[in-house]
Amino acid sequence: MKRFFKTLSVLLLSFSFGLSINIAMADTISIIGTGNVGAALGVEFAAQGHEIIYGSREPGRDDVQELVARTVGAASVMLPAQSVEGADIVVLAVPGAIAMDVVRGLGDLSGKILIDPTNRVAPGEDGYFNHTAEESSNGEMIQALVPDTQVVKAFNVLPAATMIEPGGPVTIPLVGNDEGAKAKVAELVTGMGLEPLDVGPIRAAHVLEGMLTIWLNARQAGTPYEYHFRR
Ligand SMILES: NC(=O)c1ccc[n+]([C@@H]2O[C@H](COP(=O)([O-])OP(=O)(O)OC[C@H]3O[C@@H](n4cnc5c(N)ncnc54)[C@H](OP(=O)(O)O)[C@@H]3O)[C@@H](O)[C@H]2O)c1
Repeated sequence: MKRFFKTLSVLLLSFSFGLSINIAMADTISIIGTGNVGAALGVEFAAQGHEIIYGSREPGRDDVQELVARTVGAASVMLPAQSVEGADIVVLAVPGAIAMDVVRGLGDLSGKILIDPTNRVAPGEDGYFNHTAEESSNGEMIQALVPDTQVVKAFNVLPAATMIEPGGPVTIPLVGNDEGAKAKVAELVTGMGLEPLDVGPIRAAHVLEGMLTIWLNARQAGTPYEYHFRR
């Protein structure tokens, strides 16, 4: 009931400012993880009129409650496995090294879109970083783990702060095997004022995940820089 009134008030507020939200297009989006990326994407997707359910290990934590409070519209928090139950889309905003374990703990994700922004790197003995997915990439391994889920790798090649304040038309490369899922994620990207770019099937995920090693290794070499894609 509380959520209903919160949603209604945001819709009325939006209409009163002359904005239109297509209610039929609103999705329920579970955001697993409440760190930098989870918070950035949760707030941005909520601003597009979607219902956000954060999945946190500690729903009652002060910073998690603060995040829910500053997420407009229908926002709530539950334990991760509960948060995905009614979700159309799941965002896996967790440390890359535990991504597979987290997916295993979420239960049945069949028929859902899973957005994977994770990166998985570790320093070698010389201090320079390697991409550490045992096989190929988190994106590919997750897709193999949940074959009835449409995995789309997205948002892993730019800092969370740039997702919020891009400072210009930043391009978000997308890889995934399902064209419909990529089109849905492209809508979310466009709604953030960013530009989606389809760069192929999920087997290209290792290329996007490897991008982080460039950023980290330049920093290790003493020449830190920021990068993003732009058409
Ligand atoms: N930071 C960036 O700018 C950036 C940009 C692009 C991609 N990425 C990638 O996106 C993913 C998330 O990055 P992030 O910066 O948002 O990470 P983060 O700030 O460390 O947040 C990760 C969140 O994952 C949840 N989590 C669940 N299990 C966990 C565990 N065992 N240990 C620690 N946290 C756990 C936590 O939320 P709860 O405590 O609420 O459960 C935590 O807040 C990573 O794979 C990263 O490589 C990061």
